[in-house]
Amino acid sequence: MNNSENKVIDESIQGQALNVNSKNTGSKKLFLESYGCQMNFSDSEIVASILIDKGYSTTQNFEEADVIFVNTCAIREGAESKVRNRLNDFKRVKQKNPKALVGVLGCMAERLKAQFLEQEKLVDIVVGPDAYRDLPNLLEQAEDGHRAINVILSKEETYADLTPVRLGTNGVTAFISITRGCDNMCSFCVVPFTRGRERSRDPETILHEAKDLFAQGYREVTLLGQNVDSYLWTGGGLKKEQLTEEQKAASLNFAQLLEKVALLDPDLRVRFSTSHPKDMTDEVLHIMAKYENICNNIHLPVQSGNSNVLEKMNRGYSREWYLERMEAIRRIIPDCGISTDIITGFCGETEEEHKETISLMEKVQYDFAYMFMYSERPKTLAERKYTDDVPEEVKKRRLQEVVDLQRKHSGIRTEQGVGKIHRVLVEGFSKKSDDMLMGRNSQNSVVVFPREHYKKGDYVNVFVDACTSSTLIGKVVS
Ligand code: 5AD
Ligand code: SF4
Repeated sequence: MNNSENKVIDESIQGQALNVNSKNTGSKKLFLESYGCQMNFSDSEIVASILIDKGYSTTQNFEEADVIFVNTCAIREGAESKVRNRLNDFKRVKQKNPKALVGVLGCMAERLKAQFLEQEKLVDIVVGPDAYRDLPNLLEQAEDGHRAINVILSKEETYADLTPVRLGTNGVTAFISITRGCDNMCSFCVVPFTRGRERSRDPETILHEAKDLFAQGYREVTLLGQNVDSYLWTGGGLKKEQLTEEQKAASLNFAQLLEKVALLDPDLRVRFSTSHPKDMTDEVLHIMAKYENICNNIHLPVQSGNSNVLEKMNRGYSREWYLERMEAIRRIIPDCGISTDIITGFCGETEEEHKETISLMEKVQYDFAYMFMYSERPKTLAERKYTDDVPEEVKKRRLQEVVDLQRKHSGIRTEQGVGKIHRVLVEGFSKKSDDMLMGRNSQNSVVVFPREHYKKGDYVNVFVDACTSSTLIGKVVS
């Protein structure tokens, strides 16, 4: 995760307009804005690749766009309201240029399907996450005045053969998607409905993409999936449950894929997200420990510290199991950065159960966390089976307790970095000054230091002698 501040994500999810400079000469102008998770930003790079190939160029000014696409998130209600408000802003463009088209892509498109075209008169095109290859065709339909919609989910699509066009890039770090969809059915989560069945991408195409990025000067890749630990390349589209033991042994699992990416070049850093506590194996941890260029950082969402709540969430593990996985991380990779996701106020959560989340946080002392209030989503298991009965103000108060504690822990973890030398990959100028550079250490903490003669893409050793609550500050040493 490319964040340094702990995040409470609710109504505040920000959209990001994405632009590209190379191959950007087409006559029709595309404005592409993304919301939500990293997977969505990665998908937008596929969308850009498809449309630039069809003669579009990107713009960062929606008022001059011929086509406006919003890549949407449906994970919480707040994310959806944000997009609805944004669609109103785009009204202006249609008033000025009646030929301009507005399209909704991604999870919200998949969730609402044709309803979107009926309810939101501002939308001309609706496209689900597995239908981006159909975009040129859908655009033609919409140009001819027809309603254009494709929300068919696929069991095979991984866009493996497409080269993403890197958007809003720093030229040093990039994301590579390795799986799509999710088979886990956590009871609170809409993702299995909006992104469909889980499928793994051909490892050869993943390695090719990583090599290509390295050749272009990139020095860090993050392998992306809803649950990277369940990556399994079986060679022929067979599902895990259909495999014999022999076929399983001949398949490529996540640990093996990670090793192959790490072996491409010692100067290519490798990260991954998201891990799942029920599937994260010691094999993965040993591979992380073995290769210097696999970063010591794991994002391991816990969601709740109470086994009863975890059971109702259908997470597939208990508090004890999660804590055992934590011990395994600390044992095998002693200096590992660990981050998490936490939901407060899930259906029926009692005060005692909430306190168990607090006590788990105390035990683990996360470096960083994304923290949310439970938001009921239509069609999910939780919506059908349980009552969303924790009052809003209780959810909010519990969230605040979690946030305050996490702030304290992040501060402690940052301070522990002072007085040490950190290997840092330089990503660019610091936010505050062009005389300072910023990069990240292996654990994903932000480190800033005087620029001197160093530049983006360099590896430097920084002696840290000060910090703010979330940033390490120091000077390069030889
Ligand atoms: N309400 C609140 N948070 C949710 N998440 C997923 N679904 C919901 C929901 N309905 C959170 C989980 C997940 C992260 C990506 O979003 O913590 O790990
Ligand atoms: Fe949602 Fe659970 Fe899948 Fe994550 S693992 S995307 S929380 S269903």
